[in-house]
Amino acid sequence: ATVILAVTLGLTLGTTSSGSLKETIINRCNTYLKDNGATSQNDCEKIWDSFTQAFVGKDTCDVPPDAYDSLIHSVSQEPACNRMLFWSKTKEIVHAFTEKRSCYVTLEDTLLGFLLDGLTWCGKNESQEIFTTECSSWSDCVNNPVRSFWIQASAAFAASACGDVSVMLNGAIDMPFNPTSIFASVEVKNFNSSIMKSLTVLLVTKEGDVKTCESDASLKDLQNQLDPKLKYQCKIVPQSTIQTCISQPQIACDDCW
Ligand code: APR
Repeated sequence: ATVILAVTLGLTLGTTSSGSLKETIINRCNTYLKDNGATSQNDCEKIWDSFTQAFVGKDTCDVPPDAYDSLIHSVSQEPACNRMLFWSKTKEIVHAFTEKRSCYVTLEDTLLGFLLDGLTWCGKNESQEIFTTECSSWSDCVNNPVRSFWIQASAAFAASACGDVSVMLNGAIDMPFNPTSIFASVEVKNFNSSIMKSLTVLLVTKEGDVKTCESDASLKDLQNQLDPKLKYQCKIVPQSTIQTCISQPQIACDDCW
């Protein structure tokens, strides 16, 4: 009976939200470190502790972006100069591509982004508990824990962008460069022209799309917001070309666009 009770208790504890969130994040961390050997200075338990310090004990609308500074400093990773890929409104295709191709690296392919991609979390005022449901969502309040994390992680990723940098934008929508997006409102503002050489827009289009690099007004805004020291380029990339590169790894990355 004691054994059954212990097992039952163990299972119950293991399925509380904080228990499973910790498990998910530590598992992701170990998997990432195993598959990407170079970042062995990272300690998954320490990273978890820094993560929790950002939001535990705080109301779900009271976590500002800088609460994640100590988490960001606890993760060590060399920037992937000349391979960094930003995106906006192209999440699915960009990650389908980088999952197959290590020639480009998005924030979600770095340890920090990989740990938290797709997850929801929050705390509660004067409580040590961690929740993964009933948290304020992205648009409920400005300082919600998930939004604040992505803002600060994106700012740090952009500030480290070096060499030739690319961004995959959606050519099938009105405003591929949307001022309210994280790419426009956080990342472009954090680019450092002393370590970055160029920005190439990869404008993903579907058959029948009429948009061009030259005709789109929002891309003019992007160009105007960049430091003139940075070289700007824009290429139309048909979605079918990306799909082909996803399914045919023998095609060299340089030949994808
Ligand atoms: N509500 C819910 N989720 C949102 C919202 C919102 N209003 N806005 C953004 N998100 C989340 C979603 O998960 C979405 O898929 O952020 C993701 C990216 O949003 P996009 O508008 O497609 O792009 P953007 O805001 O430009 O962010 C992408 O930021 O994550 C970094 O480096 C990454 O360059 C990339 C950029």
